[in-house]
Amino acid sequence: MALRLTAYEQEMLDGKHGEAKQLAMKIMVKIGEPLGAEEMVEVVSVQAMAHFGSLHIAGRDYLGKLACMGGKCCVPTTQDPASIPFDTWEEMGYDREYAENQMKLCDSIMKLGEYHAWSCTPYVQGSVPRLGQNVAWAESSAVSYANSVLGARTNRTPAGLAICAALTGRIPKFGLYFPENRKAQVKVNVDAGPLSDLDYNTIGIIIGKRVGNYIPAIYGIPQSATNDNLKYLGACAASSGSVALWHAVGVTPEALYGDPFEGRDPLSEFTITREMLTETEKSLCTKNPGEIDLYVTGCPHSSTQEVTKLAHLMEGRRVKPGKDMWIFTTAETNNMLKRSGVIQKMEAAGVRMMVQTCLVISPLVGNGKYKTLITDSGKNASYLPSEHGIELVYASMEDCVAAVTEAV
Ligand code: F3S
Repeated sequence: MALRLTAYEQEMLDGKHGEAKQLAMKIMVKIGEPLGAEEMVEVVSVQAMAHFGSLHIAGRDYLGKLACMGGKCCVPTTQDPASIPFDTWEEMGYDREYAENQMKLCDSIMKLGEYHAWSCTPYVQGSVPRLGQNVAWAESSAVSYANSVLGARTNRTPAGLAICAALTGRIPKFGLYFPENRKAQVKVNVDAGPLSDLDYNTIGIIIGKRVGNYIPAIYGIPQSATNDNLKYLGACAASSGSVALWHAVGVTPEALYGDPFEGRDPLSEFTITREMLTETEKSLCTKNPGEIDLYVTGCPHSSTQEVTKLAHLMEGRRVKPGKDMWIFTTAETNNMLKRSGVIQKMEAAGVRMMVQTCLVISPLVGNGKYKTLITDSGKNASYLPSEHGIELVYASMEDCVAAVTEAV
């Protein structure tokens, strides 16, 4: 069935509002029709992608072409972390050609009018859609947070489509834009006693593996769970499976009061026990870890609260000679904590702040310098060994800090 367009959408498709909008509309109609979309929805924000590590030359040229055509974002648009740290890539030994390709992408998004967010946590940078609002977000952990924790509506938008949504303020209506597609399908009970920060990652990993792309309703998450806890749960479920929406019963907005199954029987049900968490933690460590030489944290990007906690753990300690500790975060968190002197103290103790970038989509640890890293991020643990061929230990933040630091 052909997509029904409003008068304004038809004008964009006919080229009355410029070449870039026309191309964007053509792409969306072409993709939307086979998906069964009958109309477009308006979106209030876009979270796009502009990292060379995933977009490669084709993506670089695609964004460059839209920019040359005069394309301009008409809704607030941010993008995932870059594949290089902008200020320190030379000092850190990145390949020049690779860095220049990332810079070209950076030029294009400036011309297109995206905000320079470079983070997978736009919701801590002011892009905070309300319950029920439609957005077009691309990064899987951000999609999970938008849908589940904020109650906004988005599919896992492909990068090529997200920029079309940014230029037009529209996206084909399918999937999770329909309230009836947002009901829970699988029942998950968490019965594991008090939950640590690491447990939320591990719960997400288990859920993603068990439910794939179904929508779980999770019973047993306490109201005291922090936004960071929920961020990790969702990021891990999105990376070990492809969960785009989950409900924590009594906690997240679409499952705060009512029945998330809306009277239907769950397709299946399982319980996460303490034994399962311990077993999964062990399974996330690779088989032959040697001596740990690097601690990485901040996948998704570390919040102000997390960096502050790290700073407390670092008090009276420094990174051991021959080891490294990298914290991935937003420019905003880094700047805020610089104003209070926290970052300077950590840097003096040997910590490196990795601002606006991401280890998974960067070539930094695949070069043989590091053999075994330690992380408290379940998403890092699921991706880094296979993406970068590195041995890995998965442990709590406290154990990670202890592994690479010493008392002074
Ligand atoms: Fe963010 Fe990169 Fe992790 S985009 S969620 S830091 S893989």
